[in-house]
Amino acid sequence: MTATTTTSITTALLHLSTLLHLSTTAFSIGVNYGTLANDLPSPSQVANFLKTQTIIDSIKIFDTNPDILRGFANTNITVTVTVGNGDIPALVDANAASRWVANNIEQFYPQTRIKLIAVGNEILFTGNKEWISHLVPCIKSLHQALVRAGINDVKVSTPYTLGILQNSVQPSAARIKPAYGKVVFAPMLEFLRQTKSPLLVNPYPYFSCSPSISPSMEDYILFKPNPGIHDDNTNITYTNMFVAMMDAVYSAIKAMGYDDLDIVVAESGWPSLGDPNQPMCTVENAVLYNKNMIKVVTSGEGTPLMPKRRFETYVFALFNENLKPGTAAERNWGLFRPDFSPVYDVGILSNIGKV
Ligand SMILES: *[C@@H]1O[C@H](CO)[C@@H](O)[C@H](O)[C@H]1NC(C)=O
Ligand SMILES: *[C@@H]1O[C@H](CO)[C@@H](O)[C@H](O)[C@H]1NC(C)=O
Repeated sequence: MTATTTTSITTALLHLSTLLHLSTTAFSIGVNYGTLANDLPSPSQVANFLKTQTIIDSIKIFDTNPDILRGFANTNITVTVTVGNGDIPALVDANAASRWVANNIEQFYPQTRIKLIAVGNEILFTGNKEWISHLVPCIKSLHQALVRAGINDVKVSTPYTLGILQNSVQPSAARIKPAYGKVVFAPMLEFLRQTKSPLLVNPYPYFSCSPSISPSMEDYILFKPNPGIHDDNTNITYTNMFVAMMDAVYSAIKAMGYDDLDIVVAESGWPSLGDPNQPMCTVENAVLYNKNMIKVVTSGEGTPLMPKRRFETYVFALFNENLKPGTAAERNWGLFRPDFSPVYDVGILSNIGKV
């Protein structure tokens, strides 16, 4: 073999490895790592699995579990942590917020790439007046505590359900419900803009799906061919509910003057198994929904009202969780079983993992 052929083979191999690398990192996705189960692997096993076998590069947890925060140290996987709903009122106090940041962030950061603190989960939806009234002050208090600790790249935000919207069937007409708008939502949007933090939303077309809806509505929810829903103001025909929900959120914040904010899909997914009266919970539907939803958020095409945008997204959920109360569907949201076997694949296993 001549030196020239060796060189060209080496060059070809380099190109090939670049291509392979690109194909494994063409997109990335986050997952919600819920832990309401008694059969899950250890956090460090989970971290190693995600890093070596999947393209998942970010996780969101529903607490500040120190074992998870330690387990994800030095993995380069980013972590969003959650402040418990009940902790919100007390953390308005500056000293309490500083203690919380010291115990739950500083102890692990930056070895663990904590990137965001979600303050509570779907607080407006809880209807709890004390939590709601303390939400924005708590978010500001935690932000100030981070600033005092010299931590500038951990954002603070809070996830919302789409129950905050009204008139959302035609996305352009969607608005924040007046009960929330001026008092709790506008100050939140202003805080997010000032701190360059994202708006977190949990769009769940699944919860609009029931055995009694029309077949065309089910197709609309599941990204199957359907006549779509025409938006009379924009003349856009939406053929999928997830996309319509994203544009509804955009229209609602635009109407308040905040269309510049990043929107993060903090939760969305589909259960792969349910009770007998939950026939929409199948592997086939979970694949259809999640695969297409991931395509929308990662393709770079964006949505009709937000063209060319990508949306940081956290699929719900990483694992089936056997201790979740409620219907069988609640225990079957996972992409993986506790032994790491995929319930189905929506293109998130890395090439390494597939070999
Ligand atoms: C860590 O992840 C970021 C993307 O979040 C990437 O740009 C960077 O190259 C990664 N660093 C290492 C050491 O893998
Ligand atoms: C709306 O779209 C239809 C079909 O593309 C088109 O014929 C019509 O002229 C449009 N109307 C407006 C007001 O843009």
